[in-house]
Amino acid sequence: MCTSFWMKLTYLLYLIFWVCLCQEVLGSGGGSAWAPRLSPDGRQLAFLWVLAGSTHRQCAELRLIEMESKVEKVIVDIVNQPADAFAFPGLFAFSLTYRCWASDSRRLLCHTAWRSKQVLVVLDTETGVVNRLTTGGSWRLLDVDAKDLVIAASSSPNTPWTLSVGFLPARGTEGSMTWLSLDAAQPFAEIEWMVIPLQPPPAEDNQAYPGIKYEAILLAPSPSAMQKFPLVVYPHGGPHSVFSTEWMTFPAMLCLVRCVVLLVNYRGSCGFGQDSISSLLGNIGTQDVLDVQRAVEAACQRDDVDVRNVFLFGGSHGGFLGCHMIGQFPEQFRACVFRNPVIDLPSLAVVSDIPDWASVESGQEYDGTRALSEELLIAMRSKSPIVHASKIVTPTLLLVGQEDRRVPCSQAKALYRLLLARGTPARMVWYPEDNHSLAKVDVEADSFLNIILWFGKHLLQPPLWSHVLEPPPPPRT
Ligand SMILES: *[C@@H]1O[C@H](CO)[C@@H](O)[C@H](O)[C@H]1NC(C)=O
Repeated sequence: MCTSFWMKLTYLLYLIFWVCLCQEVLGSGGGSAWAPRLSPDGRQLAFLWVLAGSTHRQCAELRLIEMESKVEKVIVDIVNQPADAFAFPGLFAFSLTYRCWASDSRRLLCHTAWRSKQVLVVLDTETGVVNRLTTGGSWRLLDVDAKDLVIAASSSPNTPWTLSVGFLPARGTEGSMTWLSLDAAQPFAEIEWMVIPLQPPPAEDNQAYPGIKYEAILLAPSPSAMQKFPLVVYPHGGPHSVFSTEWMTFPAMLCLVRCVVLLVNYRGSCGFGQDSISSLLGNIGTQDVLDVQRAVEAACQRDDVDVRNVFLFGGSHGGFLGCHMIGQFPEQFRACVFRNPVIDLPSLAVVSDIPDWASVESGQEYDGTRALSEELLIAMRSKSPIVHASKIVTPTLLLVGQEDRRVPCSQAKALYRLLLARGTPARMVWYPEDNHSLAKVDVEADSFLNIILWFGKHLLQPPLWSHVLEPPPPPRT
């Protein structure tokens, strides 16, 4: 009785709270608003905002509502194309930490994709000025306490995560912020890494969005001592996500088993301005594929890459790109591994939990009130890797999560059947309890072993470098 009374009262208070709060619709102008955070003095509500109806991830605005006047303003605007490689590329923050305000109720902190890095920035909500708080490695903000103690984690491709703390300096002196690292992780001397700047030649530039550059992160075994290593090409999924120069388990482990790893942030990745995102819409399957191919050609110029042993790895849209690569450049790869790949857009569009994705990426507006038009279905099919199926000869391993609703396993199965019918070596590993991310610990461990076994099985033996190291066997008589 007593419990029930308090429960009812709590529920009532909860309702009153929501009714009061929901009187204001956050974000005017046909947008999607999220991550509302009230300043410590209770006077301002900051939130992130994007235009609705386009890609799920894109350059966001930081907006603010004055709680008293209910006036809404844009604090940090969309950046279409950053002026140069050092300029702020726009806000690519996909959430705000629960506590992100400084105690002055004027500044706000977050991490954001800035080209191939995650950096901490401090945003001045009065001037809109964005200042970087970090330089080396990649950083993630974890918390800002009431006394401006900032807790953050940092890492790089050869150094696992380290927890650091520091006090946010007074406004205008943020550049002097110093960090105390609590558990300094040691870098792996066996891994070296770099960021490779890339740009399409004029003929392959996007006419509507010219001059956009992109990047790739490369990890290489060190010291290489005149050796040549297999190359693993790894485009990210999304397509609107990004590889950052942070600790990533699979790339680091691939490098530790002596592979060069190429992580490609093709045009359309987050952190390079909104134009880069927009440039890919309607051009998937061509622009992104050629961007990856250009990165592969650049990596193959390196002395430590064995160009006869080039492999492909990718999931979701990364699997879509991988499948395009083995269709469009059939002789280039020894073997490939795809995790929950997108194979055929028309069939994906009707089963995915994000039905808008295939329309928007095909360059069309999504209209949930009607069936897909024939023109759109044809456009989707023409962009799908399955159109290149008749050219595929590359041995393919498919890693599939049965519970995946984003890219349901029917996509991978369609490719698998096709490969079997064509007599192309193929294997499918089925994880009944995992989904799109294949991120359960046992599934990750099992996938990694299967990746290595598949690449090892199809490695051209002996790799080029063994001739350099060992004398050739005596001729048979
Ligand atoms: C997918 O599985 C992971 C565990 O690997 C789980 O944390 C996550 O919530 C699942 N996502 C969905 C959408 O079911």
